[in-house]
Amino acid sequence: MLNFIINESRCTRCGTCAQDCPVRIIQQVGREIPRIQPEAESQCLQCQHCLAICPTGALSILGRNPEDSLRVTPEQLPTGEQMINLVRSRRSIRRYKDENVAPALIEKMLGALANSPTAVNRRELTFTVIGDKDRMQKIREKVLATVAEALKSGRIPGQVAYLQAAVPAYYEHQADIIFRGAPHALIISAPLDAPCPQEDISLALAYFELMAQAHGLGTVWWGMLSILLGTLPELRPLFEIPEKHRYYAMLFGVPGVRYPRCVQRDDGARVKTLRL
Ligand SMILES: Cc1cc2nc3c(=O)[nH]c(=O)nc-3n(C[C@H](O)[C@H](O)[C@H](O)COP(=O)(O)O)c2cc1C
Repeated sequence: MLNFIINESRCTRCGTCAQDCPVRIIQQVGREIPRIQPEAESQCLQCQHCLAICPTGALSILGRNPEDSLRVTPEQLPTGEQMINLVRSRRSIRRYKDENVAPALIEKMLGALANSPTAVNRRELTFTVIGDKDRMQKIREKVLATVAEALKSGRIPGQVAYLQAAVPAYYEHQADIIFRGAPHALIISAPLDAPCPQEDISLALAYFELMAQAHGLGTVWWGMLSILLGTLPELRPLFEIPEKHRYYAMLFGVPGVRYPRCVQRDDGARVKTLRL
């Protein structure tokens, strides 16, 4: 049940909701109130565009009250220039303070992350968080012990050089190649049979990275986790990644380093313009 409800005294019959529906299931006959036929309900993507676009806030769907939506005004948004500078100033952070990020902030960002786009609005992503630095330390020690054991028994192929180097680097030089000293991680996973699992995951991680860095946090994409679990799959349960899910991950925390200026890479953009 979509609970598609129009407040008839507010509806101006402008037809905007019907025009914007991506699957065209909202019908408006003449100047009548827009409706969705019961047999068409199953086609709804649940994107809530109809609720978002209604100029008078007359439309409720899925039990959502339009009054509860954040109003989209310029004051609520970064400027274009600020957004460009956020993209330019984002850095991979590989040194972190030994402190937790406030759980309320993590929760708020993950809530907002449910707004990242997913193919066909499927929204089947799972956000698995390591939300506490002590838990992260336990995981770190377990991983390093398992890697050390696997190295001894020759189970790590030579070409996985990062893993080969990780154990001596950590114990002899306090260099944390795998976890980069981060107190937290976010692993995003999606069912293998979702329409575009890898794209959905990467997009959500990219959105998370920008939100986190705008809040003064540090992040770094965690390709090392994929290398680690690809080499030693017995470690996968430690990260509670759902079965038959694809995943990718990001480390984050309060940065222990600050970059006072951006790198200079704009001239590295290879841009092609079609001239048909
Ligand atoms: C898919 C992907 C996986 C990555 N994995 C790691 C990683 O496991 N460890 C790490 O230290 N950096 C990792 N990085 C960070 C890159 O090395 C980094 O983005 C690049 O050196 C450019 O630096 P910048 O992000 O500060 O601009 C990864 C980046 C991407 C996009």
